[in-house]
Amino acid sequence: MNEWTKEQIEHMKTALHLARRGWGLVSPNPMVGAVVAKGRRVLATGWHTGLGQPHAETVALLEAGRKAKGADLYLNLEPCHHYGHTGPCTEAILQAGITRIFFGTPDPNTVASGGAQALTKAGIEVKCGLLAQECFELNLFFFKWVLTQRPFVILKTAASLDGKTATTTRESQWITSKAARNFGHHIRTGVDAIIVGRNTAKKDNPELSARPWGRRKMHRQPWRVVLDPDLKLPAHLKLFDPTLGGPTLVFCGPEASLAKTRKLTNMGHQVILAPRLDNNLLSIKWIIEELGRRSVQSVLLEPGATLAASAFLNEPIVDLAHFFLAPIFLGGVNAPGILGGTGLNHLNQAQPAKVLKVGRKGPDIHITVRPQNGFGDPSDIAALFQTTNLTPTPWLALN
Ligand SMILES: NC(=O)c1ccc[n+]([C@@H]2O[C@H](COP(=O)([O-])OP(=O)(O)OC[C@H]3O[C@@H](n4cnc5c(N)ncnc54)[C@H](OP(=O)(O)O)[C@@H]3O)[C@@H](O)[C@H]2O)c1
Repeated sequence: MNEWTKEQIEHMKTALHLARRGWGLVSPNPMVGAVVAKGRRVLATGWHTGLGQPHAETVALLEAGRKAKGADLYLNLEPCHHYGHTGPCTEAILQAGITRIFFGTPDPNTVASGGAQALTKAGIEVKCGLLAQECFELNLFFFKWVLTQRPFVILKTAASLDGKTATTTRESQWITSKAARNFGHHIRTGVDAIIVGRNTAKKDNPELSARPWGRRKMHRQPWRVVLDPDLKLPAHLKLFDPTLGGPTLVFCGPEASLAKTRKLTNMGHQVILAPRLDNNLLSIKWIIEELGRRSVQSVLLEPGATLAASAFLNEPIVDLAHFFLAPIFLGGVNAPGILGGTGLNHLNQAQPAKVLKVGRKGPDIHITVRPQNGFGDPSDIAALFQTTNLTPTPWLALN
């Protein structure tokens, strides 16, 4: 049984819709939308537009003015209870005279949390867990980073129907349609970093920039990250051109040449020494953790077969994967598949995954998958509530 009313669900859907406008604008903050309502009537709305900007609830309360007295407030995230770039939202809520608050997910950030308890103590009726699953999924990057200090990792790859990511001569631009590539750019606009392996950087010479379509403007470009163990990549590649994208981070082996390192740092790039594994590749797990230490909350891997095998099988770090399959056949035993590496010997070693969605992007098939242990599982929502000692009402709303 679910005790939420139709109108409460509608208001939360509106808050989620508003929050999504913050995609690519708010990191390291979460995306938040707010609705001030009396019954069915929406009095005011707001959303968080970027770091240092007013929080969604303060925007909505300001717009509502005196009408907020006695009204309900809907938010996808628990209101903050601290002085940061802006004042505590709990104070603004109390001053406005709001009587009931509905929010989706708790705020696990220890600096800002405690809003629900503070408001309850002040006599406001507080209900959490409304559309909890949707609210959780909206801010997976933020939740994973706050709870684990590691970024949320998305992998995106394009292949032919027979699973080839390039031809035998390593040609791969373009296997899939513009619609699929536009989706890739949409992800780029929302993440903090994009990672490629050395061979992809050399063969495809990508800019690794986020290029949104329409009138949307990027307030900052994601980090461009390349794994180049021996610093062999030529300096004229587009990913080293500062005018084309965000700052460039190069991960190399611990024994990389000092002269080559200096050349890159003199060009304004950062070079980070990463440990090597037995197979001589760099540890992608360590690299992801290092990015987390640098406050990177989300990463997009655009891997060739070698990097995809590392991230899926050798050191599983992928939380969500997008596979695009174009209705073409490439064939060839030497043409790379989606995953390269040495592969597994036995079926019982296979890495399981959950198919979340199967759809289309133009003529291509789009399969969204969560590998086993990928963050975003329903158990992760339960853990989020437990961490913050908040109980969703009703608990069943999570299912
Ligand atoms: N269809 C698609 O979606 C798609 C996407 C990207 C690329 N591609 C195609 O894929 C081909 C390149 O793929 P690839 O498999 O040859 O190479 P790759 O995955 O792009 O790069 C692999 C290289 O990166 C370095 N590296 C360091 N640490 C690594 C780690 N942990 N895991 C993996 N690599 C690591 C190694 O360089 P060292 O050799 O110096 O040790 C390794 O050989 C190109 O033809 C490109 O066009 C297709």
